[in-house]
Amino acid sequence: MRASGAFYATGKRMKSGAIENMPSYEIDFAGSGEGAPVGLDQFDHLGAYKKLGPIYSVEFRGEPWVCIGGLEANTAAWKNPDIWNYHEALKPFREVMGDRHVTQLDGEVHRAKRKQLKPGFGMGAIARWIPAIDGIVRSELERLAGAETSLHSFFMTTLTLANASTLLKTELSEEEVDTFIRFEETFINSTVMSDKDRASFYTDPLFIDDRRIVFDFLKHEIEERLAGKEVNDNFSQVAERTAIEGEAPDMQELVSEAYLLLMAGNGNTSKLLNCGLQHILSDSDWLDVMRRELESYSADSFVEGMKHFPVLKATIAEIERLFPAAPVLSRVVAKPFEFKGFVLDEGTKVLHMQTIAHFLDEVYEEPYRFKPQRWLENDYSKKAQGTFGGSTHICLGINLVRVHMPIVLANILSNYDLAFESAPDIRLNFNYGVPQVADLRGSFRHR
Ligand code: HEM
Repeated sequence: MRASGAFYATGKRMKSGAIENMPSYEIDFAGSGEGAPVGLDQFDHLGAYKKLGPIYSVEFRGEPWVCIGGLEANTAAWKNPDIWNYHEALKPFREVMGDRHVTQLDGEVHRAKRKQLKPGFGMGAIARWIPAIDGIVRSELERLAGAETSLHSFFMTTLTLANASTLLKTELSEEEVDTFIRFEETFINSTVMSDKDRASFYTDPLFIDDRRIVFDFLKHEIEERLAGKEVNDNFSQVAERTAIEGEAPDMQELVSEAYLLLMAGNGNTSKLLNCGLQHILSDSDWLDVMRRELESYSADSFVEGMKHFPVLKATIAEIERLFPAAPVLSRVVAKPFEFKGFVLDEGTKVLHMQTIAHFLDEVYEEPYRFKPQRWLENDYSKKAQGTFGGSTHICLGINLVRVHMPIVLANILSNYDLAFESAPDIRLNFNYGVPQVADLRGSFRHR
């Protein structure tokens, strides 16, 4: 093991002697000794992992970070969530959504918050809305049939309207839907910016305006309910659990919960649907297999779960594997721990590449091929499936995604062909394993 690392080369040094001795992305892989690329997607982490192994250092945004990836890294990262300081690593969410927002909470407080949110996101709480969600998807497809549309915006709008009829029942105008979508997309983009870029983004008048509209809308909805309006939806049940007897409600906490139920994660689900649909449609044999299975699809048959739809289930598993929308998670160490002989000190910044295993041929044969049947023929380790993260901070919306995706795909594939305005073209970014989503335009035509 070398005695010096990239941090000498760039004039910065990590405090821990152990970390200094890690293989360095710049020196041992890129071979430059210069600072590494600035954009997250410019790194060749897959190549670095293959050459350097599951732990190495990298210079990113002018600071030293430790990268960990692969099956053992997932085990280490998920075994004990209390090794991480989410308060620091996920602060962009606190800055916008407030200090009771779930993802930036740690330890016991975080676990208590997840319990509060269970009536919103547990499978039973979501599955009861399957017929209603199916109805919205069907009517949105019908409404748009024949008209040219952007697939991404179709998915975003449809999922938002579905949530507004189920999890948080409310009336949204077309303009409000557009504002919510724009806010979600720009807000989520900002969470991966550097502190400096994010601070500047917060001063953007469009963002300030969108945030005001979104938060005022939700506050109004909450105030009506606090004033006695009774609504049978998931938000009412979450709000009931959040209330503390004898204390005034924390309005920002309720806004953050309402936001989760109406909007959060829709962009990621839309990305997966966009990439997945294009791959399904470009494989006519697999499309036939899917359509045969889906002849028996109805909302009622799906209420019983995916057991009648193994082909659809495998297809969704493959979409999740190949197109992880959040392929790397940034972390800060709370409690020092050892991984592969290196001690990571408190405060160390870590990039946990929790989806690197998706692209390793020793785990998934021909990893860059869209091959849904692999899920019918193999049992893959949970540690090799990182799309939704893991452990106590695993995606809160996973049940919702696994209800939304099959319903949307089943309705489209059963009843429509998609006429593209441009040829489907999704390129994988081999450097990071992230798909480049082309926001295609096309039209749904009745079959
Ligand atoms: C395909 C779509 C989605 C993907 C790929 C995805 C991915 C992820 C990942 C990787 C994490 C872990 C983040 C971390 O540990 O730092 C996460 C957490 C989270 N996701 Fe999702 N997500 C999706 C959809 C959704 C939806 C629809 C919601 C709706 C509420 C949602 C809400 C959340 C929340 C609140 C967390 C934080 C949970 C916590 O920290 O306890 N996600 N998601």
